[in-house]
Amino acid sequence: MPRPHADDRAPEVTPEDAWRVLERARRRTAALTDSVDDADLMRQHSVLMSPLVWDLAHIACQEELWLLRGVGRQEPMRPELDDIYDAFRHARVDRPQLPLLGPPEARAYARDVRARVLDLMDRASSDDDPLTRDAFAFGMIAQHEQQHDETMLATHQLRAGGPVLEAPEPPSAAPVASNEVVIPAGTFTMGTSTHPWALDNERPAHAVHVAAFALDTVPVTCGSYLEFMADGGYDDPRWWAEPGWAHRVREEWAAPAFWTRDGSQWLRRRFGVTEPVPSDEPVVHVSWFEADAYARWAGRRLPTEAEWEKAARHDPAADRSRTYPWGDDEPTAEHANLGQRHLRPAAAGAYPAGESAHGVRQLLGDVWEWTSSDFTGYPGFSAWPYKEYSEVFFGTDHKVLRGGSFGTDAVACRGTFRNWDFPQRRQIFAGLRTARSLPDRETGGGPR
Ligand code: AVJ
Ligand code: FE
Repeated sequence: MPRPHADDRAPEVTPEDAWRVLERARRRTAALTDSVDDADLMRQHSVLMSPLVWDLAHIACQEELWLLRGVGRQEPMRPELDDIYDAFRHARVDRPQLPLLGPPEARAYARDVRARVLDLMDRASSDDDPLTRDAFAFGMIAQHEQQHDETMLATHQLRAGGPVLEAPEPPSAAPVASNEVVIPAGTFTMGTSTHPWALDNERPAHAVHVAAFALDTVPVTCGSYLEFMADGGYDDPRWWAEPGWAHRVREEWAAPAFWTRDGSQWLRRRFGVTEPVPSDEPVVHVSWFEADAYARWAGRRLPTEAEWEKAARHDPAADRSRTYPWGDDEPTAEHANLGQRHLRPAAAGAYPAGESAHGVRQLLGDVWEWTSSDFTGYPGFSAWPYKEYSEVFFGTDHKVLRGGSFGTDAVACRGTFRNWDFPQRRQIFAGLRTARSLPDRETGGGPR
C-alpha cells in the first residue's frame, strides 16, 4: 500500500507495496470463495448479483487485461474469456447463463495470472509510463479486486442458509461530546492531484467553498431509524422524494433490507444469523430513497458530497486537506472498521482515534454514507485509464456514497474515494448521517 499523502506531500510507492496489497486482496477473495461449496459458487443468490464464480474469474480477467496485456504487452491467455467477463456486455442477471469457468478452472486461471504478474513486477517500473509510475496499475487492480470482494460479501449477505463466515465483534462505543458538529463556512481542497493510487473520479484537487453547516457526529443508528418507522415514516409521502415514494409503494418497503418483525420487536438477518436489531449500531441496508426520507423526517437533510469531504479531510488549524479524517497515517484497527475485520458496523461512537479534525466520528468504515449529490466529474476531470470505470456513470442516475463500510478494504478507502449507486439499491452496506444548513453568524463566521 502506498505511503499516505495529502496534496502537499510527495508520493512514494514501491512494487513491494503493490505486491503486498495484491496478495491481501487475494487472501480475501479466497476466504469469500473457499467458504462455500462449488454448487453455491455457481448459484445466483440474487438477480442483483453475479454468481461468486463470475466475480472470481472477472477479477483475474481484469488483472490479465491491465497488468499482463497492458503493462506487460503480453498476448491474451484465453481470448474467449474477454466477452464472458466483460461487465458491460452481460448484465448481472444474465451471468449464470454464460459458459462460465467452473470453480477449479477459475481458481487455476486466477493463480496463473497472479504468478505471471509477480514475474512482470520485477521488470515493470518505469516513471515514464503513467500506468507503472508509483505502481499505479498494480494499485488499481488491487482496488478492483477489493471492490469485488465487497460485492462478494454483499452476495454472502443475500445468500440463503446458515453462517459460513466468521469474525470477532467490533469495538464498543466511546462517549461523544455532542450530537452534531459545526463546520464553519470556508474554502477547502476537494479531491486530489497527488495521491498515487487515486482513481480518475477523485481527481483533480480543486478548491470548493462550503457554506456553514452542521453534521451528525456519528452515523444514524438503528434506534433512531426505528423511531422514524414507529412514527409512520414509511407511510407518509411527505418525507419521500416522488420516485422514492413510488418505489417504496411498489416494493412494499416497511423497514431496511433484511429486517423482519417478530411481534413487537424487529429482527435482522446478518450473514446467515437472525438476531435482534441492535439499537446503538449504525443502520445499514437502506436505499438513498430511505436515507433521504429519514433525513427529512428528522427535519434535516443528507449532506452534499463536498460537505462530507470537508468534514472528513479539512484541517482548519493547518488549512489543508488530510488523506484520512485522522491525518495522513494509514488506517489501523484503532482508526476505523474496515477490511472485513468485523462483519458488522461498530456501535455509533466507536473509534475515537479515527475522529476528523472537526470532531466527526466513523467517517471511514462501518457503513457507506449516502450523500445528496449526483455522481459527476470534478472540474478538469479526465477519464483514465478507461472511460468505463467512472465516466460512463456520470449524470443524474447515480448518487454518491462516501466513507466505505466494514466490508471495504483500506486500499479502496480514503477521504477522497467516491462510490456511487442507484438510489433504490440497498443490498450494499449503506447507511447515512444527516446535516443541516447554518446561517454564517451561528458559527462565528469563518474564512471565505
Ligand atoms: C465503484 C463499486 C460502483 O462495483 O460497479 C468493479 C466498482 N468497477 N469493477 C462497481 C467496479 C468495475 C464499481 N463501484
Ligand atoms: Fe469489475
